[in-house]
Amino acid sequence: MTILSLPSGEGTIVLEAVPTGAPLWRHFGAACASAALPALADTRTAASFSLDQDCPLTLAPVGGTGWFGPAVVELRRDGAALPLVWTHADHAETADGLCITLRDDRAGVTLVQTITCEHGGWRFGAELINHGSAPVSIEALASVVVPVPAGLARVVSWRGRHNAELVEADEALPQQAWRREGRRGISGHGGAPGVYLCAPAPTRDHGDVLALQLCWSGDSRIAIERDDEGFHVLTAGAVLQPGEATLATGRRWTAPDALLAFSARGRNGAMAVQHAMVRAMLRWPGGAMAPRKVHLNSWEACYFDHDAARIVELARAAAAIGIERFVLDDGWFAGRNDDHAGLGDWHPDTAKYPHGLAPLAQAVRDLGMEFGLWVEPEMINPDSDLYRAHPDWALHCDGHPLLTARNQLVLDMAHADVRDHLFAVLDAVLRSAPIGYLKWDHNRDLVPPGGAAQVRGTHDLLARLRAAHPLVEIESCAGGGGRSDAGMIPYVHRFWTSDTIDAVSRVAMQRGFVAFLPPEVMGSHVGASPAHATGRTQSMAFRAAIASMGHFGVELDPDALNPADRDELAQWIGFARAARQIAHGGGVWLGEGADGLVWQAQGCPTRGLLLWVVRCDPPQDRRPQPLRLPFLAGQGDLAVRLLGIAGGLAGHAAPLPPLWQGTDPAVFSADWLARAGLPLPPLKAESVAIFHLAGAQAGAMAPLPRFPRNS
Ligand code: GLA
Repeated sequence: MTILSLPSGEGTIVLEAVPTGAPLWRHFGAACASAALPALADTRTAASFSLDQDCPLTLAPVGGTGWFGPAVVELRRDGAALPLVWTHADHAETADGLCITLRDDRAGVTLVQTITCEHGGWRFGAELINHGSAPVSIEALASVVVPVPAGLARVVSWRGRHNAELVEADEALPQQAWRREGRRGISGHGGAPGVYLCAPAPTRDHGDVLALQLCWSGDSRIAIERDDEGFHVLTAGAVLQPGEATLATGRRWTAPDALLAFSARGRNGAMAVQHAMVRAMLRWPGGAMAPRKVHLNSWEACYFDHDAARIVELARAAAAIGIERFVLDDGWFAGRNDDHAGLGDWHPDTAKYPHGLAPLAQAVRDLGMEFGLWVEPEMINPDSDLYRAHPDWALHCDGHPLLTARNQLVLDMAHADVRDHLFAVLDAVLRSAPIGYLKWDHNRDLVPPGGAAQVRGTHDLLARLRAAHPLVEIESCAGGGGRSDAGMIPYVHRFWTSDTIDAVSRVAMQRGFVAFLPPEVMGSHVGASPAHATGRTQSMAFRAAIASMGHFGVELDPDALNPADRDELAQWIGFARAARQIAHGGGVWLGEGADGLVWQAQGCPTRGLLLWVVRCDPPQDRRPQPLRLPFLAGQGDLAVRLLGIAGGLAGHAAPLPPLWQGTDPAVFSADWLARAGLPLPPLKAESVAIFHLAGAQAGAMAPLPRFPRNS
């Protein structure tokens, strides 16, 4: 008997190799030694009313073999279901994992599964090859089928819609089955296709947690089934359209990779592993993340209503408050005066930009900023020259009506001519002017479905453009946060989290976002007040403090602000530019305090950490209770400075306790902060206390710029 052990981070996968057939699952969960293990067959009590041949969960379960749970793959040949029995099995240890090859010679198919231990988690891959003499059609190919680690009891996932992304759902593990499935053609406004499975009463810092996300930007299915034997099975994979994955002899189909993380340190522990795996997939221009440039995006400043003079004016106002990248959003190209026309015709509107984009981009650069541009390449308005020339390029189903959304159709990205055309026009746009950044939008669901070919066609186009323009950064957007997933990560450097810039709404969304993706790729803007999406009014300080956790930006016209707000915003930009050095690329910890407080810390406890303590609603208790920060345990003595309280200062504000009145940092043992808690200042509704922490022994704390005035 051969035991295959794959320890990674705080968890272990233990499999038992069998001579024919897929390896058997022996353990998935907390790290444990697996030497001297008896064979599974010798340990199993017979299940009641079962086959005489035992059929335990394997890495690649298939139906019709005595296994009654979910299958790793479902195939058809000549229209009929193609049953599988693995007749040959082979496993090879790779440098950092395992490669399992399973063959069914009668059916003529091979399944290659890989498990790679990376950054404290596991990357699962699956590929199916048809070596039979007739085509084979894949109905479904799971990226991963795993037993749910023993003891987990809660399912945490996110759903959402345009303007209300990333709503957290916390449910019990199902008595029957649970499913999160997307069929809209993009990963969707519920965020990354992923799930957290947690211990019964998990805290952010304690308890077993398994986190899974698919590296996929299209339809996906994540499912949990309870087996009558008494355990749960978790599966995840892309949803395929009927017939789209039909393999001729010799052809192969690759499932999207799945990233799995197990931690005994609660959701924060599993999140850290997900961040590490995702960060390793980011392809930064120049090979390393540069400080995330503070943006100004023109959309909510002027929507479609712009021309060269207006935009230069906006750019001047942006430069004056310290903006580093100016992004010209929708409305710059031919025929685009509203959302009825123009998509597909990617050349400047000569009425608005008579000399093209080059003088504008140069003017922006002369103001000391990078110039970025909005595009929506996969879309086409019926009222466009491109559609008039190539109506057949739109995704369509013969005999079905063409259904528009926001007056637009979708280009068929499976079509090589479409991709070549888009590459040529985008390449020409990028060569026409000094453009350092693209905001790549996708503003509708897909009807008819484009399937995996649509996703792969888009990824392919993105890869081609990145190769041709390696210094250009790209932001992924789909009506706000409709395409924020690890499938996009190799091609993009930022995600637009939501069209709702209201800071209260953003608190929960941003917490959902960082469950799977790190904060440095989370677009977070200061919008106007009242917020365009919700009509709610918030102070400049509260809006800016919430935005300062992510990739900071501004989405308003600075000249439309009163001088005090404009000055305060400029100070917040200075703060964000200093804060990003601590807040990006390092650890991220979330938590909840008493009386409705939520907090988020980013950085490194000893080298430098920022802590945001957020109060959205008025307190109900008389006094704020100390805030326990369990992740700090064991970090020695820490210097703690209250940088300031953003928002909520007017009216009846209780005075600050003496500890927080001076400028010298207070020193606490980290264990005290972890177990007894950080004494908090008074916080009113819609306010954020921002603290700076660092190792007390490391010398003086690196100063952050003065906390913005008026805050
Ligand atoms: C989407 C995006 C917005 C903006 C508009 C432009 O809604 O989410 O940020 O770019 O499109 O049409």
